[in-house]
Amino acid sequence: MAKTHVSMTVNGQTVEGLVETRTLLVHFLRETLNLTGTHIGCETSHCGACTVDLDGQSVKSCTMFAVQAEGASIRTIEGMANADGTLHVLQEGFREMHGLQCGFCTPGMIVRAYRLLQENPNPTEAEIRMGISGNLCRCTGYQNIVAAIQYAAARLNAPAVQEHAA
Ligand code: FES
Ligand code: FES
Repeated sequence: MAKTHVSMTVNGQTVEGLVETRTLLVHFLRETLNLTGTHIGCETSHCGACTVDLDGQSVKSCTMFAVQAEGASIRTIEGMANADGTLHVLQEGFREMHGLQCGFCTPGMIVRAYRLLQENPNPTEAEIRMGISGNLCRCTGYQNIVAAIQYAAARLNAPAVQEHAA
């Protein structure tokens, strides 16, 4: 089958590859780029495990083709840590507040929470719950995920760590 050349920026690096037009973005990320932190749960846009940040929006990467991401700027869970290698405050929050059990939903949750806090740096609990409503977790009951995001929001709103908010 004929392949199409795609080029995009992923976690700050320009990447390219040859894909079939039917190749889903999540498969391009995982299989071509070996960025397997982006998980596949349902492949039908329900679970959110495949969530990435694309041009300033949370996107379920099983719902779009790689060719549709041509020229886009994408951040995956592999790109969440700070430039100095320390954990992003959301990652720290999930660790500190026990926001995961099996961890399958966690990359999508963190990437989604990143965009949520970009859009609303000081969300209420209800806004957090609404904000992650497209991401399913079968383990935690969500309570500690909410607490983890609240932890990150509190840290990001503290002047000393605002440099890590980007
Ligand atoms: S794998 Fe994409 S939403 Fe479930
Ligand atoms: S921690 Fe297991 S699915 Fe969320």
